[in-house]
Amino acid sequence: MNVSTSVSPPSGPLANKVALVLGASRGIGAATARALARAGASVVLASRDASALEAAAAHLRWEGAQAIAVPTDALDDQQLARAVHMAVETFGGLDIAFNNAGSGHMPAPLAELTTKDIDDAIGINLRGILVAMKFELAAMLARGGGAIVNMSSTAGVQGVRGMAAYSATKHAVVGATRSAALDYAAKGIRVNVVAPGPILTDRLKALPEERRAPIERAVPMGRVGAEEEVASTVVWLASDAASFVTGAVIPIDGGRTAGA
Ligand SMILES: NC(=O)c1ccc[n+]([C@@H]2O[C@H](COP(=O)([O-])OP(=O)(O)OC[C@H]3O[C@@H](n4cnc5c(N)ncnc54)[C@H](O)[C@@H]3O)[C@@H](O)[C@H]2O)c1
Repeated sequence: MNVSTSVSPPSGPLANKVALVLGASRGIGAATARALARAGASVVLASRDASALEAAAAHLRWEGAQAIAVPTDALDDQQLARAVHMAVETFGGLDIAFNNAGSGHMPAPLAELTTKDIDDAIGINLRGILVAMKFELAAMLARGGGAIVNMSSTAGVQGVRGMAAYSATKHAVVGATRSAALDYAAKGIRVNVVAPGPILTDRLKALPEERRAPIERAVPMGRVGAEEEVASTVVWLASDAASFVTGAVIPIDGGRTAGA
């Protein structure tokens, strides 16, 4: 087997593009960083978990991509600014950002959520994304254009029992996306948001069959989604194939919200 890491010039729809993935150490973010790299982009992986992040970046380099890990806490404005700065410093600019970092809370009716549950959801899922976008947009303006994809959820377009704080922040990401799309539409920057249904990440894989089955049954396609099915949609939104798409909320949910 040839395991050479010698690098040929990047090819693919995102060749010569620079992408930042916030929340890239595992799950959907790691899969999307991989898909962006395979589409030809140089990738900055940013997340809180430094060792998992470095392992994910090392794997992309082993595949022949250009990738760096920048440990970043989405609750820290300076660290968010640094992640964007590292893209510019290392690869010459920023063309694509996927703001995926997110955190759920244990399902419970709102009166039973802790104020920490509420603060964490707002801090990571909403404030972190707004601040990240602020820095990303500035870098993209300097570059003359770009594409941002934010992470929402089906919980961002409909209510979900027990998930009031999470759902509130995911709805807010939709508003932030649409507003920023209007602000930057004439400046060559597209801003879109994906709203996945249940995706087969490690957390869902760990659920016993009796808890997974009803989740699958609630999806009209009768199954949960794969991380790669989110990743391929983000690659499309980031590419010129989606050049007239901005302010869009793209469900990736097997039809879960089609009848909502
Ligand atoms: N898995 C699903 O079924 C599903 C469905 C809809 C939406 N989502 C959303 O997709 C995103 C990723 O979900 P996942 O299932 O892959 O989750 P995950 O927990 O496996 O990954 C979350 C990522 O965000 C990072 N992160 C968390 N807090 C952070 C912080 N403070 N600073 C920086 N990075 C931080 C983690 O390190 C990790 O890389 C989340 O925003 C989630 O709400 C997931």
